[in-house]
Amino acid sequence: MTARHGFSAGSTVFALATFPQVISAASQSTYISYSRNATDVMNQVWYDHSTGLWQNLWWNSANLLTSIGNLAEVDSSFKSTAENIFQTTFTGAKAANGGTWLNNFYDDEGWWAMAWIKAYDVTGNQDYLSTAKNIFQDLVGGLGATCGGHWWSKDKKDNTAIGNQLYLQVAAALANRVPSQRAYYQKYAQDEVNWLLSSGMINGNNTFNDGLDISTCKPEGWVFTYNQGVILGALVEMNALTGDSNYLDTAKSIAYGAMDHLSNNGILTEPEYPDTDVTGAQFKGVFARNLADLYAAQPDDTYVNFLQNNADSIWANARGSNGQIGADWQGPVKDIFASSQGSALDCLVAAAAVTDDVFNVFQY
Ligand SMILES: *[C@@H]1O[C@H](CO)[C@@H](O)[C@H](O)[C@H]1NC(C)=O
Ligand SMILES: *[C@@H]1O[C@H](CO)[C@@H](O)[C@H](O)[C@H]1NC(C)=O
Repeated sequence: MTARHGFSAGSTVFALATFPQVISAASQSTYISYSRNATDVMNQVWYDHSTGLWQNLWWNSANLLTSIGNLAEVDSSFKSTAENIFQTTFTGAKAANGGTWLNNFYDDEGWWAMAWIKAYDVTGNQDYLSTAKNIFQDLVGGLGATCGGHWWSKDKKDNTAIGNQLYLQVAAALANRVPSQRAYYQKYAQDEVNWLLSSGMINGNNTFNDGLDISTCKPEGWVFTYNQGVILGALVEMNALTGDSNYLDTAKSIAYGAMDHLSNNGILTEPEYPDTDVTGAQFKGVFARNLADLYAAQPDDTYVNFLQNNADSIWANARGSNGQIGADWQGPVKDIFASSQGSALDCLVAAAAVTDDVFNVFQY
């Protein structure tokens, strides 16, 4: 059994949660081997080398590419494989979309911008960073939404949490990576975060609703796991940009809100929306991935415990004998898509990223 140093069972914030304690967490190298297998299966079953897309999915493929970048960051032996995939997708997916990363949906564009920022982080290749900068210039056209903030699509009819969060994350991430234009991106990021955190989208559970009703500017819609994910990464970027630790405190309250209200026996569960859908199957991984980023900025053993429990459940209960992983992290194995595989991969990689093998030497 692995000792979790200082597992915060006594946390008052968390007193209502009913998470099982970790009985035995795997080592970092085990989570990496799980991640490698999940990636190999994902690529063998769904990756199309001509389009650079998985299962011909557009914005989901940006998420899968991001997961691959995160795996390369925790497993350096995977880096050259990741670089090949970045190159194949960089050429193929753009061509498959008519020679552009843009479409009618600002959130799709935001996912791709974040994927290329991740690819830049892993490789240092300026072409990837330039791609994200170019996408951002198109995102700017989505400002001026009714009620404030950023439109979800070029139809300009919906004001959503995901659209605003991705726009914020891209702006702040570029400010942190483009020194010559830091002030330019920071202004957009600062205006957006000021509006978003006071927009009314955060409910009494400290979770984000899906968006605003633009006729009333009141929150509406379900509470999806991914709306509690992108915001964590965005606030980590804001903290890095400004040094203001209030952003991490806000991120922590949202992380706990999601763990507390969107999980079942400690296993992340997509509320309302059926996991049986290729879109809904993607969401949980976005939370797991960004929770690991929050952990890197502000370590908290509760996150380690949560990510390990979820990764262990995926491996034990949601994965078929062929290595394909379904949408429901409690199991049984069902509703398998490239998106459910990539979502689970996010959690496996996140567990690897937060697991420090040093602590595995302490055995009870
Ligand atoms: C808060 O979470 C509880 C489950 O813990 C849920 O029943 C309730 O609907 C949630 N409220 C909001 C505003 O999301
Ligand atoms: C992944 O694991 C599955 C199930 O254990 C196995 O059948 C498959 O060969 C593995 N794939 C790779 C590429 O390692």
